[in-house]
Amino acid sequence: MRAADIPDDISEVLLTEEQIHEKLAELAQLVVADYAGKEVVLVGVLKGAVMVMADFARHLPRHITMDWMAVSSYGASTRSSGVVQIRKDLDTDITGKHVLIVEDIIDSGLTLSWLLENFASRGAESVEVLALLRKPDAMKVEVDCRYVGFDIPNDFVIGYGLDYAEKYRNLRDVAVLAPHVYS
Ligand code: XMP
Ligand code: MG
Repeated sequence: MRAADIPDDISEVLLTEEQIHEKLAELAQLVVADYAGKEVVLVGVLKGAVMVMADFARHLPRHITMDWMAVSSYGASTRSSGVVQIRKDLDTDITGKHVLIVEDIIDSGLTLSWLLENFASRGAESVEVLALLRKPDAMKVEVDCRYVGFDIPNDFVIGYGLDYAEKYRNLRDVAVLAPHVYS
C-alpha cells in the first residue's frame, strides 16, 4: 500500500519508495567498492530490515550470502526497553567473515551496539553497519554506522518494513505515524 491509502494514520510522508530505491542503489555502489575481493555476509535484523535487505541485496552485482537474526527490544511499545533478547540466532558461523549488518533504523542505538559486541565476540573478521534510517536526536549510545541512508527527525516512523504493533510493514513509503494511533 501507499501512504495515500491510509491518510488518517500518518501525519507526514518522509520518504517515498522511489527515494528509498535511489538511495539503496547509491549505498550498493559504495559497498561494492569497499568490499572488492572480499566475501560478504549480509545479516538482516528481523523483521524490520526485510524490505531493506531485499532491495539493497538485489542492487549488488556480485555474490553475497544472507543470514538473519531476530532480536527484540520494543514489544508493542514505541520506546526501546534497552533489554535485547535473541529470538532467532544466525544459522551460519561468522568466524573470520566480513559481516555487514543490514538494519531498518538506528533509534536509540541500543540494539545495534549490543549486536556489534555480540558479533565481535564471535570472531568476525570485520563488522560494519548499513542502516536505511537514523535518528540522530534519539541516540543514547554512539554507534559507528558506515552506511546510512537518511537522517530523520525523532518521530515514530512506519512503513517499508517498519511497524507499529506489527502493522504498516507493507506500506511502500516511510511515514510518521499519527500520534492519535498510539496515544
Ligand atoms: P534502537 O532504539 O535499539 O532500535 O536503535 C531498535 C529497533 O527498534 C525498531 N524501531 C522502530 N520501529 N518505528 C518503527 O517502526 C520507529 O520509529 C522505530 N525506531 C526503532 C527498529 O526495528 C530498530 O531496528
Ligand atoms: Mg530493526
